[in-house]
Amino acid sequence: SPHALDSSAVLAWYDLHARDLPWRVSPADRRTGVKPDPYKIWLSEVMLQQTTVAAVKSYFVRFTSLWPTVFDLANAPLDSVLREWAGLGYYARARNLHACAVTVVRDHGGVFPTSSVALQSLPGIGAYTSAAIAAICFDEPVAVLDGNLDRVLARYYALSVPVRDAKEQLRAALQVAVPHRAGDFAQAMMDLGATICAPRNASCLICPLQPGCMAAREGNPLLYPIKPAK
Ligand code: ADE
Ligand code: SF4
Repeated sequence: SPHALDSSAVLAWYDLHARDLPWRVSPADRRTGVKPDPYKIWLSEVMLQQTTVAAVKSYFVRFTSLWPTVFDLANAPLDSVLREWAGLGYYARARNLHACAVTVVRDHGGVFPTSSVALQSLPGIGAYTSAAIAAICFDEPVAVLDGNLDRVLARYYALSVPVRDAKEQLRAALQVAVPHRAGDFAQAMMDLGATICAPRNASCLICPLQPGCMAAREGNPLLYPIKPAK
């Protein structure tokens, strides 16, 4: 089996270079054991589906100042939530967002479930979002795999087939690398995919994955991921 990802190197990189994002715990608070708020992580992850980090930031700040807790969001009229969502697109996401808040308050006393399996039964929370919340908030050792991670892993393994033909192998390769700091690892890999191993630019010289990366060794990482023949 090919090289395991070096999660220790990824975490060391994250400790130095984590992006400062409004839904994250600050490095100082992180060192004192402060955990992320599941409500804020859930809200950010729903907003980040099909929308960029840059576009999401101001919406996230506005939502959390209007509705600081899941109780506030559940009690808000749907039409004001939809109004604040305007510009983010995909309005079904905003309807599900409100429905999920109502469900968490009505069925769970306002406390988000802590496992990825339990989170998946909530409105609008699928495989990716449940894994992201469980890892980031509760350090569940689960693979958090999105399109950016597909690209990083396709490069790391110099994947010779399109990603869609290797989903299970990529998931397994990521899963075996998940460390105890599962939440930091998930966020680190997202940051790597956004800033170091980006779609049109791979900064291999400063990448913590470089020592084991097969695409970097080959010398042309932008060849990956292989595009599917139509
Ligand atoms: N993209 C999706 N989820 C993210 C997160 N938690 N941090 C940064 N980028 C993301
Ligand atoms: Fe991407 Fe280069 Fe890092 Fe490999 S070494 S994961 S290609 S940035």
